[in-house]
Amino acid sequence: VKRVEIVQLGLGYVGRAVAQIVIEERKRWLETLGLDLRYRAVADTSGALVGEELLPQAIRLKEDGGKLSELGVEPVEDVLRTEPEEGTTRIVVDLAVHGGTFDLDLLGVQNGSCLVLSNKGPLSGGSEQYESLMDAAGDRLWYEATVGAGMPIVSTLKGLVETGDEVLEIQASPSGTLGFIMSAVEGGRSFSEAVKEAVALHYAEPDPRDDLSGLDVARKAIILARTMGREIEPSEIPYESLVPEGLEAVPLPEFMERLPEADEEFAARMSAVRENHMLRYLARIPAEGPVEVGLTEAAVETPFGPINGPENVFDFRTRRYSDVTLTVTGPGAGPERTASGVIGDMLDIVGKIVRDREGLA
Ligand code: HSE
Repeated sequence: VKRVEIVQLGLGYVGRAVAQIVIEERKRWLETLGLDLRYRAVADTSGALVGEELLPQAIRLKEDGGKLSELGVEPVEDVLRTEPEEGTTRIVVDLAVHGGTFDLDLLGVQNGSCLVLSNKGPLSGGSEQYESLMDAAGDRLWYEATVGAGMPIVSTLKGLVETGDEVLEIQASPSGTLGFIMSAVEGGRSFSEAVKEAVALHYAEPDPRDDLSGLDVARKAIILARTMGREIEPSEIPYESLVPEGLEAVPLPEFMERLPEADEEFAARMSAVRENHMLRYLARIPAEGPVEVGLTEAAVETPFGPINGPENVFDFRTRRYSDVTLTVTGPGAGPERTASGVIGDMLDIVGKIVRDREGLA
């Protein structure tokens, strides 16, 4: 039996979806994979709830907007400093959306844990921070869900690099929220309705301006560029913002309320697009030279033309895939899809435990 314990940071939409899947599937994993998976702790910004007896209650509490401190918490650092039981692998699973978990992730890997991220923050900040995490984590870091939610994007890219292909360029439409908004407006809905719907479906970040501003796309572009082996600073990637002027800094409820002010201008922008083209928010990540993030008029016959709903498109041009590109498309946002990416990484770790044990690593 492979014993694995989870310390999960974040019990928001993605965090709850991950916990639900673990609760529902682990009996089967024990039978089929010999995997004994338990929660050591779940944490939110108020602290860590240790053990898993209260996990179902914690999920309900968080659904109702409560804080884990209501059930009794310990400092997360204290939990991360404890040793896992003999023969047990610990996975720190960072599903937080706001910054602030970097030090916890680092502490986790410094103490020997594996790290699984859906949080893009730890891999998309300054290079000094990024490298300190990479050095400490070594081969104990997984982050499929940071790009494309449950889609196999990081693994595809790593596979290309590891098999000796040369990645020349990635062109991507990596925002579920922006894809959803553009196709909704193309279908006749207003910009403000589309944004509200993307929020209601939990495609958007907690503050949808993180999507509309291009920040979320820029973060994904940095993660892909770094996975390609590029050394890059966030300041090297300027990104174009779709946040209506004057609403950049207002409180979130006011932003949502005033969004209709921008409907007319957005509709005009969409309809001014050249014939046989669609307005798309793309990232272009070449092997060398500037990474570009922003609005592009994409020809309808390209993979970016027919984007529908929260669909993402990742187009890899490599030495082996040069005449026809390798394109991966699918819905790239949503808590359950993101949770699938996270769970896939956890199960990969189980494979690694077996390889390490059998000396095949
Ligand atoms: N807000 C992100 C998106 C979530 O819309 O793509 C997935 O990373």
